[in-house]
Amino acid sequence: MSNQEPQIITNKQEMRNWSRNIRSQGKTIGFVPTMGYLHQGHLSLIKQAQKHTQHIVVSIYVNPGQFSQTEDLSTYPSDILGDIEKLKSFGGVDVVFSPRNLYDYGESEKGVVKNSEKDGKIVSFLEGEGVKHETWIRVETLEKGMCGMSRPVFFRGVATIVAKLFNIVEPDVAIFGKKDYQQWRVIQRMVRDLDFGVKVIGSELMRDEDGLAMSSRNVHLSPQEREQALSISRSLFEAKLAAKNGKSICSELRRSVIESIEAAGGKIDYVEIVDQESLESVEQIKSGVVICVAAWFGKVRLIDNIEIDVS
Ligand code: PAF
Repeated sequence: MSNQEPQIITNKQEMRNWSRNIRSQGKTIGFVPTMGYLHQGHLSLIKQAQKHTQHIVVSIYVNPGQFSQTEDLSTYPSDILGDIEKLKSFGGVDVVFSPRNLYDYGESEKGVVKNSEKDGKIVSFLEGEGVKHETWIRVETLEKGMCGMSRPVFFRGVATIVAKLFNIVEPDVAIFGKKDYQQWRVIQRMVRDLDFGVKVIGSELMRDEDGLAMSSRNVHLSPQEREQALSISRSLFEAKLAAKNGKSICSELRRSVIESIEAAGGKIDYVEIVDQESLESVEQIKSGVVICVAAWFGKVRLIDNIEIDVS
């Protein structure tokens, strides 16, 4: 592992050349894709990657393809210089891949992909100059429930950009946070189904000391909303304890999570108890389930989850 300052690469071909050079020396590459505004959760993904490979690439790219026009692309927090500083002091990151626009195939680099929804269909278009991007990956079943219900554009955007990043970076191992549980499972399935030569590893969700799951979006919470949002992790821990103590009816566990979050002032998007791999709903607690939550506090949509493995 290198302790030098990370090299900043913004160009796809330069990135690919770097990776091929490393691989030609028989070395392995670990990859952590991010949208920036890095926090301890991201650093824990890098630490995880460092356990598996000799070289590390971190990408920073806010992917317009996974936001619909009504979502928070323009307000997504960004601090590229701060991110690079954090990576420098963390150490052991070889490359920060920070492309300007991964959907423009022309000379202009001006086109930006945008999504809108019309009659239940997603329509994508390129705003500005450039060559139109029209290939999208859909992980058909896994993308449908939970976050896919209220964010129909999201997973096809994630799967597509991750496939593009895998093709550019050509990593041996890629690390995804289990906080984005459905995203992690969607990517694992895509990699299996399309025979990508990369091993996908899920890394444990990281919490702040008060229990809030770490997220770049937490910065948008007011102190009061942050306090209220603690109801998510609290209710998940309580549900897990209840399940371990023999409460096995999922509808009852779901209801208690919903009630706690609503009582704290949150607006539920979903609370689901699903199988950890298939993400299909389960009625009775069994080994290998996960409770997944998405809820709004003010203008901030937070997600969280807790795995339950009872025998
Ligand atoms: O989890 C994220 O930050 C993003 O969805 C990802 C995986 C970097 C793709 O844009």
